[in-house]
Amino acid sequence: MSSRIVTGLDIGTTKVCAVIAMITDSNELEILGVGVVPSKGLRKGVVINIDESAASIAAAIEMSEIQAGVEISGVYIGISGGHIEGINSKGVIAIIDKRKEITESDVRRVIDAAAAIVIPIDRDVIHILPQEFIVDDQDGVKDPVGMSGMRLEAIVHIITAAGTSINNLIKSVNKAGYDADEIVLEPLASAQAVLTEEEREMGVALVDIGGGTTDYIVFEQGSLRHTGVLAIGGNHITTDISIGLKTPNAAAEEIKLKYGAAVADFIKEEEQIEVPGIGGRPPHMEQRRILVEYMQPRIEEILALVNNELEKSGKKNTLGAGIVLTGGVSLTPYIGDLASEVFGLPVRVGAPLGIKGLHDIVDSPIFSTAVGLTLYAQDNLPKLGPTNTKDEEKNRESVISRIRKWLDEFF
Ligand SMILES: Nc1ncnc2c1ncn2[C@@H]1O[C@H](COP(=O)(O)OP(=O)(O)OP(=O)(O)O)[C@@H](O)[C@H]1O
Ligand SMILES: [Mg+2]
Repeated sequence: MSSRIVTGLDIGTTKVCAVIAMITDSNELEILGVGVVPSKGLRKGVVINIDESAASIAAAIEMSEIQAGVEISGVYIGISGGHIEGINSKGVIAIIDKRKEITESDVRRVIDAAAAIVIPIDRDVIHILPQEFIVDDQDGVKDPVGMSGMRLEAIVHIITAAGTSINNLIKSVNKAGYDADEIVLEPLASAQAVLTEEEREMGVALVDIGGGTTDYIVFEQGSLRHTGVLAIGGNHITTDISIGLKTPNAAAEEIKLKYGAAVADFIKEEEQIEVPGIGGRPPHMEQRRILVEYMQPRIEEILALVNNELEKSGKKNTLGAGIVLTGGVSLTPYIGDLASEVFGLPVRVGAPLGIKGLHDIVDSPIFSTAVGLTLYAQDNLPKLGPTNTKDEEKNRESVISRIRKWLDEFF
């Protein structure tokens, strides 16, 4: 029964969050426990101090275990950071079956062919995601098994990460006393929690603006088409406030959460806020509008950078369902208005959808990644089963080899 319990671990730049969920007999996901602690030992989404990150991880998981009343062993870990790369790759094979009917093993072969790209030795593949198949001249095929044809082509999206970043995540989790079940690209997990089936079919970009990184992921006709990570996020907004209002970072963060907004024109001139002084100086009053004037350009910059990336990728005009914002920064009032102006597309702010149990606790864009990791686990657990190793090197090997195995079991 314990294999029906899954745990998502989002090791963010600002917070570490563990979510324990149970997969019910009717295959629904029920949240049993949530643990959130401030994150230590990370910069821009990447582990820089293993002892510190291990301590935060242990604290978050223990908190979630107490709430859930269960002890867990393995976790699905989110990965992000500027080192993530996604590329599209093609493979083609001839159908050798006499009746020219495509089998599961053909599909496996063509994906292997598409995935056979040269990857630098300091990088590892974390996902191989089939996008579409082409049978003879017919494109846009989702599942070619059973179709007739002479030639089968696959287009896959391959996501790679720096080997050292993967190692440091797994080491941190092992040091905290847990196994890594699998490493999952954070925006892929967030997408599981936040996007509807319909949005993915119509074409959508999910933009997860966290503390240290802004991740984006594009779906078109139900499949992932493009991903990217920018090393910029809410922490930069806080730094701008701290410099602009001449107040310590912690106070700037507090003021941002309390009074922040994304569009200065929406703030009345007469609204006043109290700003703490630096080094024992007395607090002073300031117009709220001034605060928002420091925030707006930075938020606009983050959104414009994503917009540029989408335009460069050629995916901008495929987004029939527009943009969905998630992550902590998406809680900034009026960010939807600013974003729809920058992107020129409809925008909504998304939090985890369609889950049971303690869903009100995770009903915030801050929890999209952690909840999404449990949904990802729910989808993949039946294929793989839980990992079981306490040995660090073995754990790393098993996580990497599971990607290959996933392909084998999937088809
Ligand atoms: N109500 C709010 N208004 C404005 N900003 C907010 C609000 N709540 C949280 N934030 C900001 O969101 C950021 C944290 O978001 P989130 O929890 O998604 O990040 P993270 O997952 O820890 O980081 P990352 O994904 O970059 O590694 C912080 O910069 C925080 O100040
Ligand atoms: Mg995050």
